[in-house]
Amino acid sequence: MKLWGGRFEGGPAEALARLSVSVHFDWRLAAYDIAGSKAHAKVLADAGLLTPEELSRMLAALDELAADVESGAFQATPADEDVHTALERGLLEKLGPLGGKLRAGRSRNDQVATDLRLYLRDHARLLALGIADLAGALTEQAGQHVATPAPGMTHVQHAQPVTFGHWLLAHVQPLLRDLDRLRDWDRRTAVSPLGAGALAGSSLPLDPERVAKELGFTSSAANSMDAVSDRDFVAEFLFVTALLGVHLSRLGEEVVLWTSQEFGWVELDDAFATGSSIMPQKKNADIAELARGKAGRLIGGLVAVLTMLKGLPLTYDRDMQEDKEPAFDALDTLELVLPALTGMIATMTVKTEVLAKAAPIGFSLATEVADYLVRKGVAFRDAHEITGRLVAFCAARGLELHEVGDDDLVAISAELDPGVREVLSVDSALAARKTPGSTGPLAVAEQLANVERELAGA
Ligand code: ARG
Repeated sequence: MKLWGGRFEGGPAEALARLSVSVHFDWRLAAYDIAGSKAHAKVLADAGLLTPEELSRMLAALDELAADVESGAFQATPADEDVHTALERGLLEKLGPLGGKLRAGRSRNDQVATDLRLYLRDHARLLALGIADLAGALTEQAGQHVATPAPGMTHVQHAQPVTFGHWLLAHVQPLLRDLDRLRDWDRRTAVSPLGAGALAGSSLPLDPERVAKELGFTSSAANSMDAVSDRDFVAEFLFVTALLGVHLSRLGEEVVLWTSQEFGWVELDDAFATGSSIMPQKKNADIAELARGKAGRLIGGLVAVLTMLKGLPLTYDRDMQEDKEPAFDALDTLELVLPALTGMIATMTVKTEVLAKAAPIGFSLATEVADYLVRKGVAFRDAHEITGRLVAFCAARGLELHEVGDDDLVAISAELDPGVREVLSVDSALAARKTPGSTGPLAVAEQLANVERELAGA
């Protein structure tokens, strides 16, 4: 049963049917398609195109159909080209010819764009919950490590000491931006295409604004041609999920490093680590690696949709059927990755002693020396140079900065005096960093409180 057989002799070739069928993936739009149908039926009745009695039979049948879809009593078959075709068949089975009236003033073109907006808006809310859970787990760990020293890095080289809580919160901030991006995306996506018909609107007295309100949109589309052409909301959604994937990948990469023998900063809970089939001693961070690996398909989905759209003439083209699988795959992927990462982070053990011991290694307090000289009035340019000489002196002799004797200090520069040793502790370096957003324990506690507040409102 097709929606378009009238002008054709005979059925489609098998190869065409197999290429064009989408019901195996767009069936998940069914509940949204039915919601759109109910809203459309009401405006048809308002327009006098359905009698009140027909409307109530129509709405009852659509409710029944929704229940049958939910329970599995009604299923799509591969002979149904897409979800819209399958549901019209279901309606006709219940209502006979009356079921055929619903299609007036509506096309699959405005229908499918509406369904996908509804579906993505709903699922974006679930996605946001998953992101907030991960951000919550990171924040809780951060709360345990507000004052735990760690070796802060640039270029994966020891740079300056930081607190590990600050580091963990540095992974929360991007997630907060992702949540904000989803909210912002939703505002632009809350526009209803229904009423656009195939492309030109309708000669029937429909009420797109009413349909929009009924379906939870804030407005109906301003231009019927744009309404059926526009897939910005899919591309933007896929950008948000791709960027989220990149954030999860960077977190995953760090967990892989942290749990390595060489770092040894973190131990994963057994329930969130995997073993090897041959090496009995292995404990691997597969969750972190899969989070990193799956960023590839999230980015791929964005590229696929942008590439599909770039050469399309207005308005609807069948190419656009390719918009759905990447969007569904992004949601499915994140639905797997986020809870696993959340559990892994929530249950990991941070080795505070290992971190604290590593924090000053690699002359990471050299900046403290330079800042000390600056406070004495030395220009930073000269302070940098003097400190560099001190570092070279220590490196050549296997000394730490604080181990250089008084005479040697003065020999390196007349500006260096024994008082410099006072700034050469990780704790004093951390405590000195008080400005908002800094890594010092006080500033981190403040950041933590702000993040917790933001998450409570998310
Ligand atoms: N299944 C199509 C899609 O997902 C909608 C059908 C529109 N088809 C058409 N020939 N106008 O985009």
